[in-house]
Amino acid sequence: MKQQINRFQLQSDYIPRTIEAHADACGKAIIVGEHAVVYGSRAIAMPLQVHRMSVRLRVGDEASKSVQFRISNHDVPAHVCEVVNDAFSALGIKPFNVKIEGSHSLPIGAGLGSSATLCIITLQAIAKAAQIDLSRDRLAFLANKLERRFHGNPSGLDTAVVAYEKVISFKKGPEIREIAMKKIHHDGPPCAWPFLIIDSGVRSSTLSMIQKAKPYFMGSDGEKVLQRFDDLTTKVESGLESGDPDLVAGGMNEAGQLLKAAGVVNDELRQLIDLCRDHGALAAKSTGAGGGGSIIALLNPHQQAQQKSKIGAALLRHGLQYFEVNLS
Ligand code: PMV
Repeated sequence: MKQQINRFQLQSDYIPRTIEAHADACGKAIIVGEHAVVYGSRAIAMPLQVHRMSVRLRVGDEASKSVQFRISNHDVPAHVCEVVNDAFSALGIKPFNVKIEGSHSLPIGAGLGSSATLCIITLQAIAKAAQIDLSRDRLAFLANKLERRFHGNPSGLDTAVVAYEKVISFKKGPEIREIAMKKIHHDGPPCAWPFLIIDSGVRSSTLSMIQKAKPYFMGSDGEKVLQRFDDLTTKVESGLESGDPDLVAGGMNEAGQLLKAAGVVNDELRQLIDLCRDHGALAAKSTGAGGGGSIIALLNPHQQAQQKSKIGAALLRHGLQYFEVNLS
């Protein structure tokens, strides 16, 4: 243990002994509290277990190019490749030559955590190759440092939910709490929480969306908005923990209105939100940074089959699809 702490503190000359390492992680969707979480409010996010990214890392010999990084047979852009060097510094170890090949089923740049997932798996693969054990907390903390390359000043929510792979309630700092989900109890037999995620296909930069929304959270009005987001997160959390979809839907819908007021809900997202609500979804809002990317909807648990078929048919006409996340 002592040796491991020293490795974090000193630029060590440690030579990796594992020559191949594998890492894999999920995507995420934010249920409530994005943007406000950057300024200290609480937020809730869920893992997208079936939408994942994985990498296989091989330690290269001295003669090989220092870092080769390909995902789905494409070289990753140079600034993304730099995340590997960020990982060496975050771990406090001397860089070694690596060849990384990755693949993913997670939509990229769609507000579903792809940059956080990339940071987590890069760090995990390098740590494994260097035979460093990382706790989930340490992994989330260090990966959030890597995320600065993409977000500027990320809250830590994305890397935390990806590291934990649990539905979590998060506040900037050390507070990560797993939500004790209860199945929906709503005029019928208990059932899982039927969420839909819809990718608008429009792409935007998280950093520019954070900059766009920032004024909304500043000053004395901003403080009131942050307090409201905190209250809405508490409402959603108690709904998820008591199986009450009305509480969750109420919190999500009001948070969605506040995100519109913050200026991060563009026309495409607005249309998708209206489509879901018009077909009876209990709640629909943008998820993630906005300005494009995805929306998240909560269906009526007892009419979900009809709602999915109507929403799916309407999306198909626009060349879009949904995917389901059933939480229990
Ligand atoms: O769109 P994404 O997946 O990059 O999520 C960004 C979430 C924000 O709350 C807007 C930023 C953050 O650091 O929490």
